[in-house]
Amino acid sequence: MSVVVICIPFPVIPMPHTIHPALRHLLVFVASTLLSAVADAATDDPGRLKARQVCSVCHGLVGIASAPNTPNLAGQPETYLAAQLRAFRSAARRHEVMNVIAAPLSDADIAALSRWFASIRVEAQPAPPQ
Ligand code: HEC
Repeated sequence: MSVVVICIPFPVIPMPHTIHPALRHLLVFVASTLLSAVADAATDDPGRLKARQVCSVCHGLVGIASAPNTPNLAGQPETYLAAQLRAFRSAARRHEVMNVIAAPLSDADIAALSRWFASIRVEAQPAPPQ
């Protein structure tokens, strides 16, 4: 897995000073967002990329859920994750949100997503004595 961070120093992007400063900021923002999206697509693991775009809002960036009533996916067995995603896709497992999320996933998406979430290492520790 590799992470590419592109930082664009301001003066590198030529901007006529006649452009309103707010618009200039917006243009730099759009340019750097596009560039980092291209970098993502070129270098990133497809599962990680899709997970970040579609799943992270609820399951967290590294598969530790950020929304209530949402399970952690990090470190779960790949075969289990793939089976659940196929079950959501076919609605054999029913859940309002996950059925909608899984419907457009291809077999390749499911394989890549399952591989990515399964590859995240998690450590468990015994709970402290009460
Ligand atoms: C809007 C919030 C939301 C998004 C976005 C979302 N999920 Fe979920 N996901 C949930 C919730 C809530 C559950 C719990 C479903 C249940 O209770 O049966 C769940 C359950 C799951 C499960 C079952 C986990 C288990 O332990 O059985 C998997 C696998 C899963 N999601 C994968 C994904 C993947 C992959 C994506 C992105 C493609 C994704 N989810 C996007 C909310 C979301």
